[in-house]
Amino acid sequence: MDSSDVLAQIDAEVSNCQACALYHSRKNAVPGEGPAKSEIMFIGEGPGFYENEQGRPFVGAAGKFLDELLAQAGLKRPEVWIGNVVKCRPPGNRDPLPEELTACDRYLERQIAAISPKIIITLGRYSMGKFMPGAKISAVHGQMRRVGDRFVIAMFHPAAALHQASLKPAIMKDFAQLPKLLEQARSALAKSAPAPSEELQEEPKQLSLF
Ligand code: URA
Ligand code: SF4
Repeated sequence: MDSSDVLAQIDAEVSNCQACALYHSRKNAVPGEGPAKSEIMFIGEGPGFYENEQGRPFVGAAGKFLDELLAQAGLKRPEVWIGNVVKCRPPGNRDPLPEELTACDRYLERQIAAISPKIIITLGRYSMGKFMPGAKISAVHGQMRRVGDRFVIAMFHPAAALHQASLKPAIMKDFAQLPKLLEQARSALAKSAPAPSEELQEEPKQLSLF
């Protein structure tokens, strides 16, 4: 399976998933969307009202603002992957519970492995908590950190910036830095990439679990 097949397989599993209680109240699960070769993955919290209606991430007010922020960084939505830490809407947009985050993490982990992005951008505290446990968003937002084979940048959640005017200039500034940070990530990862001869070797075939 190539990475787009893997993503399609995950989408199908998410749509039928009953691994946590959030499946009871969902209308549509929201697996996330974007190219299998995205250099950047944006990871938000969970679907809201409109996302649950449409089965697509960030299509409500926060999504419109995210589109503006992407444009500011010279990016278009179809060029990036966008998803969430939980794929089904928490009722009334409440915070996801620890057991829901744990149950749903199996999908996000596989999505990250399939896409292997250069940069993961966390939007909001639950997503940040996965990669930078204990970090304070006010202290770390906009800073790029190496986490394993890639880089992670924590940003404020676009919905938080819509509701709290003081955060808006910060999130806009952080997005404006993205082209520069992406260049830095590309060159750092190119330097640490395995030698071409190693890359050419065939990966061992794994037995499918499905
Ligand atoms: N907020 C999120 O965190 N995710 C969405 O998909 C929409 C709004
Ligand atoms: Fe499954 Fe995730 Fe939906 Fe829970 S939130 S039912 S783990 S897809």
